[in-house]
Parts: sequence; C-alpha cells; structure tokens
Amino acid sequence: MKIAVCPGSFDPVTNGHMDIIRRASKMFDKVIVVVLTNFAKKANFTVEKRVELLEKAVQCFDNVEVDHFNGLLADYAKIRDAKFIIKGLRAVSDFEYEFQMAMTNSKLNPELETVFLTSNSDYMYLSSSIVRQVAQLGGDIHGFVPECIREEIIKKYSQGGIKSDS
Ligand code: PNS
Repeated sequence: MKIAVCPGSFDPVTNGHMDIIRRASKMFDKVIVVVLTNFAKKANFTVEKRVELLEKAVQCFDNVEVDHFNGLLADYAKIRDAKFIIKGLRAVSDFEYEFQMAMTNSKLNPELETVFLTSNSDYMYLSSSIVRQVAQLGGDIHGFVPECIREEIIKKYSQGGIKSDS
C-alpha cells in the first residue's frame, strides 16, 4: 500500500492545500494530512481546531485521514509506514526552503521520498496568512477556503482572534 503524508501547519487549511490533497489522493492509496509544528511560525488556531477544520474539509475523500503530531515529520512517517511526503510548491521562492526540508527529512529517514506538486495557478497567491489577514480585516474569503469551514474562520476573527505573523 502506497501511503503518503501531507504535512503542514494548516493555520487554517486553504483551497490551495485542498487542491494538493485532492491530487495526492488520486496518486496514493492513502494520504495522511498531518498537522505539525512549524518552529518559525506562531500558530493562530489551536492544533485541535486545525484538525477539526481539516477533518470537515477532507470528509469527501475516502482515502484521506487527518492527524497531528508533536515531533519530527521523518519520525511520524516511519511510525505510519509512509514512504512519501507530499508538498505543494507555489513559486520559485518556496523551493530553497522546501529543498532543504526534503534533504533533511531524507537524511533523518532514508526511506522517505518527497514529492513536489506544483500549485494550481488559481491558488499560487494563496496562503494561510493571506486568509487570516483578509478575514481579520473583514474581507471576503469566499474561494480562499473550503465553503464548509468558511463561517467558522470568519467567526474566529470577528471575535478578535488574530494574534500573529506568518
Ligand atoms: O505549512 P508549513 O508551515 O510550511 O509546514 C511546515 C512543516 C510543519 C511541515 C515543517 O515545519 C515540519 O515538518 N515541522 C515538523 C518538525 C520537523 O520535522 N522539521 C523538519 C526537520 S528540521
């Protein structure tokens, strides 16, 4: 069974993430979307909330599950018997960092292959931080996030929920 892990902070999940998850679900028998800690970022949504939003967003996929892990991605992949990491690349500027991560993960777990999927041109501009900024300032996030979680994101920011950067 070909198992892939799709890691990220998903703070919150966007339609750009969903496009990558959807395409990965066609390529692998099972895709595990895992919420991990990015030490360079301060999270807005709790891990539990990010998992909850992702679970709603992926419920239409039979072979996609959601999880969270507090540790190294390379270790998580080993525990789940996954041999592939799926990452989306939006622009050349993403590449250097992603390349470094791919090499680190492969050193830590030599069985792992990182598979890069190029972003759909519809979502190249989109990021979780863009969604947070637009939502915080009362803008329309229709088309930026899955419809089934849009209200929940708006609700969070209407309650003054933003606190950080990227
Ligand atoms: O969505 P993001 O923030 O770009 O995702 C980055 C993430 C969470 C996948 C990355 O920071 C990560 O893998 N964190 C877990 C810790 C780890 O394994 N780091 C890589 C080795 S330094």
